Amino acid sequence: MRKKFVAGNWKMFTDHATAKKLAQEVVALMAGNHQIDVALCPPFTYLQTVGEVLKGTHIALGAQNCYHEKEGAFTGEISPAMLLDIGCKYVILGHSERRHKMGECDIAVNKKVHAALNVGLHVILCMGETLDERQANKTNEILKNQLDGSLAGVSATCFKSLVLAYEPVWAIGTGHNATPQQAQDAHAFIRSWVANHHGAEVAAHMVIQYGGSVKPDNAASLLSQPDVDGGLIGGASLKADQFLGIIRAGM
Ligand code: PGA
Repeated sequence: MRKKFVAGNWKMFTDHATAKKLAQEVVALMAGNHQIDVALCPPFTYLQTVGEVLKGTHIALGAQNCYHEKEGAFTGEISPAMLLDIGCKYVILGHSERRHKMGECDIAVNKKVHAALNVGLHVILCMGETLDERQANKTNEILKNQLDGSLAGVSATCFKSLVLAYEPVWAIGTGHNATPQQAQDAHAFIRSWVANHHGAEVAAHMVIQYGGSVKPDNAASLLSQPDVDGGLIGGASLKADQFLGIIRAGM
């Protein structure tokens, strides 16, 4: 039985005061609720503050990106070891905004995945097709390419520290979520890729989140799909009551 996992991706939002307040509100609303795994992923600059608020709770801290090198002359970059050092459990990698707006390719994502897993971080690896790709019936082909590329050389034992997130690009921040059936089909395809490469047992334990315009009112229908094991939430994670509404819908 897979435990559901809901993570809030705050993207480049909040400031110091609002990040702290949002984390405090989530902690207060989540008190005593351990049925679902939850993580908050604030911007780098607020990891420490949010981490302090989350200390002693069951809510994990996550970052939104990292570089693949351990240390060195890489101005502006953050290493996986630094994220671990500041208390992160998770790092989101391969988000479509990084793939499409920052030009990250599967080779770069793959290096980051290895580097993060090597230091003991858990990785939330994102993948998903654009609208053009979906309309051209290329969804599965795109997912396969992203899985093959981003997870090249990652062993079955490392899959324990991996979460996959299906995030159709056309659904992110648009208010147009995938239908529950579209999400289920893509998740089943992703799980079958894991089974083909690493066996049925690994695939059965694989947590696969859906992301893209998840809101409290559509969360129950998405999260009740058999292969949808939680959500990666952008916009709705910036309001504690909406984020909690989604978490409750997944229970
Ligand atoms: P959204 O973003 O919930 O605002 O669509 C999801 C994501 O990008 O992770």
